[in-house]
Amino acid sequence: MCGIIGYTGPLAAKNVLLNGLSQLEYRGYDSAGIAFFGADQKVHVLKTVGKVARLRDLCAGIQEEIHCGIGHTRWATHGGVTAENAHPHQAGRVTMIHNGIIENYHQLTADFELEEKLISQTDTEVAARVLDALYDGDPLASLRRFQPLLKGSYSFCILFSDHPGEIYALRNVSPLVAAYTHSGSIVASDLTALIPYTKKYVVVPEDRVVKMTPYRMAFYDENGHEIQPEILEVNWDTDAAMKNGFPHFMLKEIHEQPDAMKNTILPRLTRGLPDFSEDGIPDQIFADCSQIRIVACGTAMHAGMVARAIMEPLLRIPVLVSVASEFRYEDPLVDSRTLAIVISQSGETIDTLAALRLSKKLGASVLSVVNVKGSTIARESDYVLYTHAGPEIAVASTKAYSVQLAALYMIICRMALVRGKMTEQDGCAFMSDLLDVIPAMESMIQRKEEIRQLVRPLVDKPDAFFIGRNLDYAFSLEGALKLKEISYIHADAYAAGELKHGTIALIADQVPVVALATQDRIFSKTISNVREVKARGAYVILIAKESAAVDEGLADVCIRIPDLHDRFTVFPIAVVLQLIAYYASLLKGLDVDQPRNLAKSVTVE
Ligand code: F6R
Repeated sequence: MCGIIGYTGPLAAKNVLLNGLSQLEYRGYDSAGIAFFGADQKVHVLKTVGKVARLRDLCAGIQEEIHCGIGHTRWATHGGVTAENAHPHQAGRVTMIHNGIIENYHQLTADFELEEKLISQTDTEVAARVLDALYDGDPLASLRRFQPLLKGSYSFCILFSDHPGEIYALRNVSPLVAAYTHSGSIVASDLTALIPYTKKYVVVPEDRVVKMTPYRMAFYDENGHEIQPEILEVNWDTDAAMKNGFPHFMLKEIHEQPDAMKNTILPRLTRGLPDFSEDGIPDQIFADCSQIRIVACGTAMHAGMVARAIMEPLLRIPVLVSVASEFRYEDPLVDSRTLAIVISQSGETIDTLAALRLSKKLGASVLSVVNVKGSTIARESDYVLYTHAGPEIAVASTKAYSVQLAALYMIICRMALVRGKMTEQDGCAFMSDLLDVIPAMESMIQRKEEIRQLVRPLVDKPDAFFIGRNLDYAFSLEGALKLKEISYIHADAYAAGELKHGTIALIADQVPVVALATQDRIFSKTISNVREVKARGAYVILIAKESAAVDEGLADVCIRIPDLHDRFTVFPIAVVLQLIAYYASLLKGLDVDQPRNLAKSVTVE
């Protein structure tokens, strides 16, 4: 939530900041602003409600050469979407941008007697005023006094008006990456803003202060001693964070799924079986556990639901999936024989991180499935299985979901082998089935025009229902989430057998029902439920395997997916459900990549 960037160096800072903000905009897009040192060596601020494009217009009037500045794109937490609440915030000699939440801002307001002085409703302005009150002309020393006063999550970029050309940055929990290049020093919420300038970067260590000048970037610990953080290298390039001819990132990312799957699976296959030795994940964690707790949010949690539906019957140990924001407060039964599997694309979701920390505290081994290298969740986990989807920019997760599933399927297979629930021959067959899903996904992507056409009857409807049993139910959850978040059609998923216990009251003439019936074992049961909704007038879109016998008139539309083993149908289905949501949003003329009220990376509770 919120994207921040700072740059000082020989390049035109206005472009670096605005281009960086465009890359970071998926993190929040309520309002945007920049602050910079002008030719007069004074700090100037420009900010506006709305997206980065509007800020860009506002900045068109800046004629002078700028070489040092900071920029922010906001997802409102404290205070509404107004120009006053937009960042940067200024107090005396301090100009600040912030990503995160300062939880004790009330206390700080009282302690520093700020009530009468505040112009905005933001916690950030409180932080800026506190820092200004502490500021004695020495930025590093003042920041050392400032940091212990703060409770909450934050990453800040700060200009001190009496230190032109310098930027200071610090963080706790909220992400911040930095790089010093021959074109100056740059810091940002994530790598997408850095990669046009460099592939080498550092994750700013928590509770450390970064001092950036055009010639150097230095990191200081709490005693003011300089430290050398580890330099990492990103393995994707600028193209990966561009639309490359696609009208939206979401469509591009849907198309990238087959490659993302290959990148995630193939390097980890040895003689046809999953091999995590390069990832440093020992078999012991799979052998020793007596229960598995999967924790994640949103789409990542839905991937966990699919994994659970396969894991428990196969491994014969309890597997529970929890929404991370609930897990923290439900006093979970976790002990040293628990394997906690934490799933997160961004690796920064605050609730998931808190669940990870709690699991570790209770003695569990934590294995995370993460897409962003070096992210907080990855760094704090005992073991990490990286998915290799590359950057996911569209707010609606697509390729990250598929590769999370791929990674989880590999974990299932490895675990079944280690625990003697699969022979090597079974394991090879399982992995071969997993690889077979890649052409199946490709074939569904190629049929996107067909899906666009069948979505038309949905777009003017206020509601839609997704139904399925067992694994199909787990897939439905993701289909409903995808549709509602980008098309704003109210959509809910139900276990098909559960409908008649209440929800069927909502099924009336032409109400859309997307029915998933891809599990051979329970196909006829699901079809009975389809008949029930059809009998009440529903407009039924049925998704079934190629060879499934579907009676004439049962559904208004039937989408056939390739004949795969039941466990693997999720992959082509994911593509179909993503395309349904994509075209519904597109046909309604909505902002597909940046739906209202959302942000890509949820770093506030
Ligand atoms: C929905 C979506 C979200 C995320 C959720 C978790 O399309 O993207 O539901 O899946 O916010 O995010 P990560 O995986 O970054 O922890």
